[in-house]
Amino acid sequence: MKAVILISGNGSNLQSIIDHADKIDLQISAVISNRDNAFGLQRAQSANINTYFIDSKIFNSRDAFDNELISIIDKLDVELIILAGYMRILSPLFINHFSGKILNIHPSLLPKYPGLNTHQRAIDACDKEHGATVHFVTEKLDEGPIISQETVQVDTTDTEKSLAEKVLEREHILYPKVIHWYTQRRLKLKNEVTATLDGKKI
Ligand code: GRF
Repeated sequence: MKAVILISGNGSNLQSIIDHADKIDLQISAVISNRDNAFGLQRAQSANINTYFIDSKIFNSRDAFDNELISIIDKLDVELIILAGYMRILSPLFINHFSGKILNIHPSLLPKYPGLNTHQRAIDACDKEHGATVHFVTEKLDEGPIISQETVQVDTTDTEKSLAEKVLEREHILYPKVIHWYTQRRLKLKNEVTATLDGKKI
């Protein structure tokens, strides 16, 4: 199945998806970044994947930017859009255009800690467990139907950095697993609100 991956930064999840691509029946048609210095762009180029940088500065609205994104992705004719550390809010225009085809990975056990600084927030709350979530993207930020999660233990000695590293390690296993469910057409979004696997509500 053809997919496009959207990034803004380091791209360690992108790397893991590249490394798993053959095994999970995924063809990465392009990697698109809204930041020209995203290291993930170099990772994609090293894997001979087409890259695009879209500069938000030359668009005067979110819709104008997202229209450009839509036109690039439509031409690529992909069935799946994978957000992997894409740090820009997507417009309803974009989300509705690709409804049911957008996956995101978020570094917390949603619904806990949507938004930023999730690792520090888990430490501040003295949580015993923390983790990552893959979900379908719908109009509400970090609130689309949850598909799968990975949990890590929070140790009293953990810092934001050490916890982020532990969670990322799990993300690199979790995301390819969920993408494979999607490429096998086992995973669907029903009526905008329900994620199903093999026809059963998750
Ligand atoms: C990850 O923690 C992911 O959960 C979040 O952004 C981070 C991206 O890291 N959405 P990387 O760019 O894949 O290394």
